[in-house]
Amino acid sequence: MNIPFGVKINGLGSCVPDKIIKNQDLESLFETNSEWIESRTGILERRVCEFTPENSSSLDLSIKAAKQALGNTSAEELDLIIVATSTPDFLYPSTACRLQSALGAKNILAFDLSAACSGFVFALQTASQFIQLGTVQKALVVGVDIHSRFMDWTDRSTAILFGDGAGAVLLEKTSTEKNQLLAHSLHTDGSGACELYLKAIGGQFPNGKIEKPLETVFMNGKKIYQFAVKAIPNILDKITANIGLESKDIDYLICHQANQRILDSVAEKLNWPKEKCLSNIAKYGNTSAASIPLAWHEFQNQLEDNSLLALVGFGAGLTWGGLLWRWQKF
Ligand code: UT7
Repeated sequence: MNIPFGVKINGLGSCVPDKIIKNQDLESLFETNSEWIESRTGILERRVCEFTPENSSSLDLSIKAAKQALGNTSAEELDLIIVATSTPDFLYPSTACRLQSALGAKNILAFDLSAACSGFVFALQTASQFIQLGTVQKALVVGVDIHSRFMDWTDRSTAILFGDGAGAVLLEKTSTEKNQLLAHSLHTDGSGACELYLKAIGGQFPNGKIEKPLETVFMNGKKIYQFAVKAIPNILDKITANIGLESKDIDYLICHQANQRILDSVAEKLNWPKEKCLSNIAKYGNTSAASIPLAWHEFQNQLEDNSLLALVGFGAGLTWGGLLWRWQKF
């Protein structure tokens, strides 16, 4: 694909709330045990927002992650902010508008993007396209979710999995020769909407009926698991084929952190060493739109210059998508 300009990464940041909930803590909430959670998901603990003045909202986490990603770059230099989230503090105004104001960014475009756990990948591609067309010089992309506020804390099929967090990346325009985003492939299949959803207040639900509002996550874990272990290797084949490579050429995969067994199964299918699939799920659980930038920020120093990095998200929608980057330290 011919692009007028390239896009490069120039900053990463993340933020998680201080409050830790360990697997053992869940044993008093419903019938479960920490060994089951660890062996079936790889999760040991997760972070959740408390109702305190600091780190208590999607916006709070976004601001801290964004400031870290910006580093020495002034927010006034930004042209675009996209926040990927499914758990905003307000349905409107968007988290992106509130973040723009909190950072002191002026005269820019800011909007939220909703694609559940694929949100960060969709948002990163969207922002990159603005840059590659030359209409934006600097863009901030944030993935944030605070599912703890939308959890049925008596439902052991979901409450063991999710945690809160935010991750952010600063993108900048560069020359086509230095373009780091090599390929993408993004997908949706709305026929799977009933498998994983969070009802909106008074909204229309996936089955077409208006039901009593119930603001908690429903997930058909098995269906989503089966979908994920097929979709991830397929997407890796697609994005590498786009530039004449194969999935074996990928150096690192930063996949949505939903279940350690999903990551292990991908490694096994592709005959990869497990270490290629970077994982921090043990510490944070599934942080939805935040999981990829959170892991990216955490593992950035482990990535060698010029390594081929795949980012893959999947989740409610159904949505799934992957991006292929040539990593350069900044
Ligand atoms: O970010 C969005 C994407 N989400 C995902 O990717 C989630 C994908 N799905 C999963 O990660 C897994 O399906 C879960 C972790 C949600 C569930 O694991 P599973 O291996 O599919 O468990 P299961 O639902 O098949 O349950 C197996 C057994 C059942 O008992 P029986 O019927 O075999 O006696 C469950 O009742 O484990 C039982 N079980 C539990 N036991 C203790 C289910 N949840 C729990 C629990 N603690 N929390």
